[in-house]
Amino acid sequence: MRVLITGGPTREYLDDVRCLTNPSSGRMGMELARAARARKHAVTLVTGPTAFPDPAGVRVVRVTSAREMAAAVAKAYPRCDVLIASAAVSDYRPRLRKAGKVKKGPARATLELVANPDILAACGRKKGRRVLVGFALESRDGLKNARKKLLAKNLDLVVLNDPGSFAAERIGATFVFAEGAERLPKMTKEKLAGVIFELLDRPHGGECACGC
Ligand code: C5P
Repeated sequence: MRVLITGGPTREYLDDVRCLTNPSSGRMGMELARAARARKHAVTLVTGPTAFPDPAGVRVVRVTSAREMAAAVAKAYPRCDVLIASAAVSDYRPRLRKAGKVKKGPARATLELVANPDILAACGRKKGRRVLVGFALESRDGLKNARKKLLAKNLDLVVLNDPGSFAAERIGATFVFAEGAERLPKMTKEKLAGVIFELLDRPHGGECACGC
């Protein structure tokens, strides 16, 4: 299969030295890319800023902002069979990026934000025969919201992470399908990546991981 993976955080600059971002380490995207490669798939990883080196045998596209990630995904998407979106994309960016370093000003300041494109939702609208997997991190009503996301973005699977999974070594996750859900035991991101590919590599018509 030709597998396209997104990973890492995005950075949305408000001037030349400050940005909006989040603590995603990029490890999940890296582990997914390695697991896919180990299973002999052709892999493209589009990742936001991460300290991890390029995994061997993987085409890596390094980006900074959500819009750059959207452009890189749009380029690779037509030629992929599977998309796994594990990136923690900033939903908003500052409306303006100022040149240089903005000087300290009054005690209160406001920052105007505009919405970023939803990369995965855009792919869901042009799904074709592809398999689409999203990740979700919810602080409440996890199952309900993950299921909503599955339907709204036209996905086959949502990997719902427990809060606290950001930059963590071992994470608790739940597979959410249209037909049901399966809670997984806490495991490393390396193991979770392997479990996701076990599911994707299973021939169609095989037993569903949720037991339905
Ligand atoms: O809607 P929410 O951000 O919770 O959805 C999470 C899923 O959507 C993740 O798979 C994430 O990579 C993807 N996403 C995206 N582009 C965005 C926001 C989220 O691809 N702008």
